[in-house]
Amino acid sequence: MSLQALIDRATGAQLRAYAPYSKFRVGCAVQMNGELFDGVNVESASYPLCVCAERNAIAAGVNAGARDLEAVVVCTDASPPSAPCGGCRQVLLEFASEPAKVVITAINPQGESRSWSLSQLIPDGFSGKELPA
Ligand code: THU
Repeated sequence: MSLQALIDRATGAQLRAYAPYSKFRVGCAVQMNGELFDGVNVESASYPLCVCAERNAIAAGVNAGARDLEAVVVCTDASPPSAPCGGCRQVLLEFASEPAKVVITAINPQGESRSWSLSQLIPDGFSGKELPA
């Protein structure tokens, strides 16, 4: 699957964001088990209930039976392009069997981009392996 396909999915998803409160529209595309899924941020008048685009994209993948996260593209209007929030980094880590190999690309519709590995965004993260057997 190409990076361009993920960029196209994230850019298209951003148009469907439901962000009437923050006006910060986010679209995300993830590749999981070789398939692409997308999600948008969905806000609520009860602000703490807002869900980020990244977590909705992951949920779409898991709902379709995918478990292994391979790549992420997140599209916002921010310049420079906005990296995923801390909570989403943790959820991305949950599904990354090889965090150093998962590339996160942040883009905006003007064509700017930045990228990192998931390990760079959440170094020494809590993987769950710490939990008792
Ligand atoms: N948001 C995301 O969708 N992803 C992020 O990584 C950062 C924040 C959303 C949540 C809320 O709807 C709006 O952006 C402002 O925080």
